[in-house]
Amino acid sequence: MGAIALVPAAGSGSRMASDTPKQYLDLLGKPLIWHTLNALHQVAALERIFIVISPEDEWWDGYDWDGFGRLVVMRCGGDSRAESVLNGLQALSLFTPSDAWVLVHDAARPCVDPAQVDGMIATLADDPVGGILAVPVADTLKREGNDARITETAPRAGLWQAQTPQMFRLAMLAGALETGMGPDITDEASALEKQGAQPQLLMGSPWNLKVTYPHDLQLASLILAARGE
Ligand code: CTP
Ligand code: MG
Repeated sequence: MGAIALVPAAGSGSRMASDTPKQYLDLLGKPLIWHTLNALHQVAALERIFIVISPEDEWWDGYDWDGFGRLVVMRCGGDSRAESVLNGLQALSLFTPSDAWVLVHDAARPCVDPAQVDGMIATLADDPVGGILAVPVADTLKREGNDARITETAPRAGLWQAQTPQMFRLAMLAGALETGMGPDITDEASALEKQGAQPQLLMGSPWNLKVTYPHDLQLASLILAARGE
């Protein structure tokens, strides 16, 4: 069974507060997204890797991507992550079977473990819905009232932090995003959940962090350097 990857990379990285979008910031001598694509490139079951960049992207063309044979770049990014993903899926659906498995993976997660993605594809191959990598919440959760005063400790039992990849069938995911599009749709699973589906939770890894703030870039460089990259 083949699967494809869709990498949303059309964000501006506002929380990183850098002039360059975070996916192009330097990480061990390469743009951050290079590491993400390098990891996905090592997943044998991925037939092709599609990247969604912004129509205004000025950085992608400045690099040589020839080493990655299975890459296709699409300049169809939208105003939100969900819109970028949906635009990418709609473009894909012109030449991809509607039941193809699509693994949506944030460009901003460069430390994803290829073996874990391989495992995910094998585990979910016959699943009726699909699923996501996630990790159980480890910290005690506090709800803030006014002026940084705690009003409640939220029970963390059963709570997980969603990661990517998130793996769903092309037409099912595109349909769920089309129907459910809104600010509450912050990942693919939330669109499926809105339709009443129950995606599977697969144990991810704390190493698979999303680079959001400047300190995440430091953590990612430590993780990748420890792996010899
Ligand atoms: N993304 C996208 N299109 C958007 C917004 C985000 O393709 N309109 C992508 C980002 O490039 C990133 C992934 O979705 O790879 C996860 O989003 P996030 O970490 O929120 O990145 P940004 O939106 O760029 O960052 P911020 O929210 O801090 O502005
Ligand atoms: Mg964002």
